[in-house]
Amino acid sequence: MDLVVRLAPAKINLTLAVLGIRPDGYHDLHSVMVPLDVADRLSVSPLPPGSVDTLHTTGFDPGPAADNLVLRAFAAARRGAAGPWRAAGRAGDPPALAARLEKRIPVAAGLAGGSSDAAAALDAALVAWDMELDAETRHAIAAELGSDVPFFLAGGPALSEGRGERITPIPWLRDDDERHDRPGVLLVTPAVPLSTPAVFRAWDAGARNMAAGARQASVHLADELRRGMASDALTVRAAILASANDLAPAALAVEPALVPFKRALMRLTGRAIGISGSGPTHWALYASHPEAVVAAQELRAAVADGRLAAPGARPPFIVAARILAPVPRRDQ
Ligand code: C5P
Repeated sequence: MDLVVRLAPAKINLTLAVLGIRPDGYHDLHSVMVPLDVADRLSVSPLPPGSVDTLHTTGFDPGPAADNLVLRAFAAARRGAAGPWRAAGRAGDPPALAARLEKRIPVAAGLAGGSSDAAAALDAALVAWDMELDAETRHAIAAELGSDVPFFLAGGPALSEGRGERITPIPWLRDDDERHDRPGVLLVTPAVPLSTPAVFRAWDAGARNMAAGARQASVHLADELRRGMASDALTVRAAILASANDLAPAALAVEPALVPFKRALMRLTGRAIGISGSGPTHWALYASHPEAVVAAQELRAAVADGRLAAPGARPPFIVAARILAPVPRRDQ
């Protein structure tokens, strides 16, 4: 069997409303999420009988392999596939897998790189085993692996609700002029990894927005996208979206050095700056990808000559990204 290769995209939350805490300690969310062309690369191949799953990573350090969601996804996929595997008359369990993961997405950054790796690993494992699982079983395995994992099964922009397990794909921008590079997204990730549980705990402890604007902005954006929104209309909304993250005050409470950093980004870019998920990745929207590329170059220069001081032991990760959206069909 050949190598199975998958790209595992990063995501940002254009909106993130925390609706409340649930009896299980998780939080009910309402969030419009979009996948980006910044992606980890996962390659998977089956190993001989008697082997165990292995994982080799390069790039950003994802921490201990044993905790890695790729290995957890393989184990969960194997449990889910064991019944159909035997029912098909195949001996033993689906074989062990060797994985290579090139981490190009910063870790603990609010970009859901680990969750995306898990979704890619689930898919790659099934292909490597020549197995299919119905959408419901895949979704159940994804939800068990983590709250952000089901989003990556959707393969495009989506509304995420509940704990993250209720995913509704949403149509992306009308693109009448066929310029699929719109809008551009500038990502800036300072090297201060943030723990998602710690940020939710800070929200629980009261680090919250007093105004309930995120929910309204999130519901409104989802409605507008469903009705067919033009790219320009999205960039006009950038300031509202940038402030529509209920976890932002909690992220800033956990890492106060982000407060002056965000201010500096606003000053240097002249843009509204949003925070993705539980942070610390900051984003800004541009009318086109080339404009985001120029902004990324300017910020890198500002880091190099000391005009932008960033928290963390390393310089921030700065990149221009595109939103991955299904290309609209012209005959519809
Ligand atoms: O589901 P996952 O393990 O990725 O979530 C990481 C942590 O984020 C959880 O342990 C929980 O503290 C928090 N979380 C939450 N509500 C959500 C999603 C995540 O409280 N909807």
